[in-house]
Amino acid sequence: MKLNYNLSRIASLVVLITLLQPATAQNTCPIIPLPVESKQVSGAFTFDGQTTIVVNEKSLQGVAKYLQEELAKRKGATLKLGTATKGQLIKLQTVIAKPRPGEDYSLKMSPRQVLITSQTVAGVFNGVVSFLQLATSSPDNSVPCWQVVDWPRYAWRGFMLDESRHFFGKEKVKRLLDQMAFYKLNRFHWHLTDEPGWRIEIKQYPRLAQVGGKGSYTDTTAPVKYYTQEEIKEIVAYAAKRQIVVIPEIDMPGHATAANKAYPEHSGGGSDKHPEFTFNPGKEATYQYLTNILKEVNALFPSQMIHIGGDEVSFGNDKWLSNADVKALMAREGLMDVKAVEFYFIKRMADSLAKMNNKCLAWDEVAQADLNPKQTIVFWWRQEHPRQLSTSLAKGYPVVLCPRLPFYFDFVQDSTHKSGRKWGNKKQYNSLEEVYNFSVAGVEGCSDTSRSILGIQANLWTETIRTEQRLDFMTFPRLCAVAEAAWTPAAQKDFPNFNQRLQKQLPLLKQQGIQYYDYGQPQQSPEPVR
Ligand code: ACM
Repeated sequence: MKLNYNLSRIASLVVLITLLQPATAQNTCPIIPLPVESKQVSGAFTFDGQTTIVVNEKSLQGVAKYLQEELAKRKGATLKLGTATKGQLIKLQTVIAKPRPGEDYSLKMSPRQVLITSQTVAGVFNGVVSFLQLATSSPDNSVPCWQVVDWPRYAWRGFMLDESRHFFGKEKVKRLLDQMAFYKLNRFHWHLTDEPGWRIEIKQYPRLAQVGGKGSYTDTTAPVKYYTQEEIKEIVAYAAKRQIVVIPEIDMPGHATAANKAYPEHSGGGSDKHPEFTFNPGKEATYQYLTNILKEVNALFPSQMIHIGGDEVSFGNDKWLSNADVKALMAREGLMDVKAVEFYFIKRMADSLAKMNNKCLAWDEVAQADLNPKQTIVFWWRQEHPRQLSTSLAKGYPVVLCPRLPFYFDFVQDSTHKSGRKWGNKKQYNSLEEVYNFSVAGVEGCSDTSRSILGIQANLWTETIRTEQRLDFMTFPRLCAVAEAAWTPAAQKDFPNFNQRLQKQLPLLKQQGIQYYDYGQPQQSPEPVR
């Protein structure tokens, strides 16, 4: 009797605990990157062709259209755009008050209405993307209600694609921009010129694309491939609709081989391994030539930033010291060595950019150059040289963190992978977890709280990437990890939790034809390049 009584008490306790469960245990918000504050509330919002996306502001029309298109594409429902006040509504609004300025947003859902507010269009866009992620993680068009207040850890959340070594074309670039937007990455760094190919039409110097655009890293006879100015404008507009700023890179004074094929009169020579690698820093006409090129580039990209490379000049500046023009420059300007010549060149080009009201962006080799911190952004890429980062920060240069370990996506993501890079004797590589867990707090002499750190970026160099399939394999799902590393506060980052949420994203990637690397079923890359 006593035993029975106890058993029934235990049974009712179990029932009680089960009933209380939804109120006590919070579900994890499925969004990637994980929002700062999120709470599931009761009910679900259902949408269909009768639902209206409500906007009363002209500045939000593009964002509303984006939401409409994505819901049609991803969920098969074409919502109305309008100013309705009745029925199922998704309202987008900019507001003056809370949350804070910048890209912050608030998303409030109830069974009748979704309200997305921010002080900025970019913030409303972020809220829209969060709603889209909630919608796509639901199997039907009934979306469990969430309340989200959110803002990014970093303003710069970037991805770089090298199209000099292999050219992928505008459709693939648009698909990448789609994925960047879906994970709130907002800077597309486009590496358009380098040794194997020049990939941007310059009207004043047509041979740059027509001659410099021939060949690729793996095939010097590959047909000419480059973006026309019309195509560039189309991609820049496509990115802008997704709140992504596009930053072109025109690499100089090194990595100039393709340009020098087209206009050899501006070559400063090269080395045995890297012939015709540099522009001639001793020739005044070369500064005019490069400034003219940058003027055309500037007219195509509203970012008011141009990346001028500045990396690895020592790979091919062997001829500078014996070049009469360079010798004359050194004597005239009192430059003691080739490094001083390199910095003189960078400063001259930075001055040209400043006159166009453009910031000068460059790799971390420029940390020791004498540039104006207000008009410069340094990209720290050499993790084995932490001093390049600490010097940049000490000089007040804003910095984007993209160390090879763990942010170069041409490195393999699994120890068994054969095609792609590994680092040093230990054969280090860039697993999903390494990408996710990056913290600058671990870098010698640096603090995570430095206001000069603009953000982080993943870079995809394409020496070993010839096809779209392999591009996807190297990029995904690591793109999701870099997105969360760039957005979510350090204290909230949790790899197992991220990995759980990621499992729900993988079918979405597959649906869109993206051949990501599946950590659950280890496999070699499609179409490997040694
Ligand atoms: C670089 O990887 N050369 C910036």
